[in-house]
Amino acid sequence: MNHALPKNESVNIIRNGGVNKKFYITTPLYYVNSAPHIGHSYTNIAADVLARFHRQLGEDVYFLTGTDEHGQKIAKSAQDAGLSEKVFADKMVSVFIELWKSLDISYDDFIRTTEERHILTVKNALNTLYENEDIYLESYEGWYCTPCETFWTDLQVQSAGLCPDCLRPVEKLSEKNFFFRLSKYQGWLIGYIENHRDFIKPLSRYNEVLSFLKRYKLNDLCISRPRARLGWGIDIPFSKEHVTYVWFDALINYISAVGFSYDEAKFKRYWPADLHLIGKDILRQHAIYWPIILRALNLEPPKMIFAHGWWMTGQDKMSKSRGNVIDPLRLVKEYGIDGYRYFLLRDVPFGLDGNFSDEAIIKRKNSDLANDLGNLVHRSLTMVEKYLSGRLPQARELAQSQLKEDSDNLAADVGMAIQRIDFTAALDKIWLIINQANKFIEETKPWNLLKEKKSEEMDSFILLLVEIIKNVSSALSSFMPSTTKNIQEQFSGPIIKKGIPLFPRT
Ligand code: ME8
Ligand code: MG
Repeated sequence: MNHALPKNESVNIIRNGGVNKKFYITTPLYYVNSAPHIGHSYTNIAADVLARFHRQLGEDVYFLTGTDEHGQKIAKSAQDAGLSEKVFADKMVSVFIELWKSLDISYDDFIRTTEERHILTVKNALNTLYENEDIYLESYEGWYCTPCETFWTDLQVQSAGLCPDCLRPVEKLSEKNFFFRLSKYQGWLIGYIENHRDFIKPLSRYNEVLSFLKRYKLNDLCISRPRARLGWGIDIPFSKEHVTYVWFDALINYISAVGFSYDEAKFKRYWPADLHLIGKDILRQHAIYWPIILRALNLEPPKMIFAHGWWMTGQDKMSKSRGNVIDPLRLVKEYGIDGYRYFLLRDVPFGLDGNFSDEAIIKRKNSDLANDLGNLVHRSLTMVEKYLSGRLPQARELAQSQLKEDSDNLAADVGMAIQRIDFTAALDKIWLIINQANKFIEETKPWNLLKEKKSEEMDSFILLLVEIIKNVSSALSSFMPSTTKNIQEQFSGPIIKKGIPLFPRT
């Protein structure tokens, strides 16, 4: 993950893989109050690409996703649906799991915050913090946004009295609650961030967090809710009158999934996480609250937090509360799993916001997938069938050329871009080769080689194309697992036979 690695060293890491290296990657735990949309699928697809890439390097990957099931928002949705919270959550969880299946998300673990291993861990962490006097009881007054389950300061709600996140009215609440001493660790966190330039990515988010911490004094974090107001949460072990605030509960999942408090060996193996992948909406919780909670528990912070941008519709963030969401299943049905996966990671540089439209995805699919990649594979298979009766020539040493060299370097180039979590750069590299290969076919004019009976040249020409397609398909396999498997299958076997086109035009 280090940008500063000298090229040769990175290449070695990529070529040799890290057999004993582990890679623990997480996504947010999504609220189960309604069905997932493009935004949620974006994070999970990006995490899936990274997980598959690190597996390809031979690393011991632990890819965690899951659901955030406590708190007022879910209690309210359950009530509206006329169901108990748990039954409602069970129903929604299966919707998430089905979507991840439809998108080829290869997670290793799915954690629900209602699971025993998680509840146990949250209570354990709360007890430790309480014993160490990092948690105290106090009266609290603040502006509360019910849909967002968040308290805001005067400054944040401003004179309009609106939630800065969802823009709905907030209400003033006063109650006795438990507080976690965030403020005590502010100085430590500033120092830690200053000494770890790769801790928060991209750089714009790093700067944002650091300048926020330097400018404002942190308030301690309210980590409980009175049971009388909200019963749907994890019991606070040292108070019968309170349950745990949903954000404190949810963040703990990253350690409860890997065994903190119940499986020491597993926890030692996987913690600290290598990467928490999140959207920029939940940066404050991950880059400020979470490292401080860990510090107070005497645990290492995650190695990296990467906050990507938002999918927007027009000027607005796509979100359940704004009611402008698009169902990923419709897009998968219309454009295919891999068409959808490709579009999300290709069209917008990872870290920036993007605008979603069907026109944009159709354009990408027809030009990059059907025309460029699809045609390269299809033409190559056709030539093997037509000029060589479906038999690949004997392997042989191929003459050096710029195209061959670029193709040989593709895995390393793409690997370095993915290590930097720069998906658009990785895909750009791959498409550069695809386009060069298509040009190579046009310039070589293989039908002339056939006419002139230049069979040696024809063999080398085909062998180079096949090699390029194999390299492209391997570099692309984390992005488009089923398409690349299909390509690899079409080129294996004694007699090459082309299948149906990979990407029918939309
Ligand atoms: O915040 N564009 O859950 P959540 C891009 N339960 N990504 C988006 C997006 C958009 N328009 N909308 C959502 C929560 N996302 C908490 C998290 S973690 C311990 C607890 C993605 O259901 C993005 O990853 O609101 C964002 O951070 C996440 O969904 C928020 O999901
Ligand atoms: Mg949200």
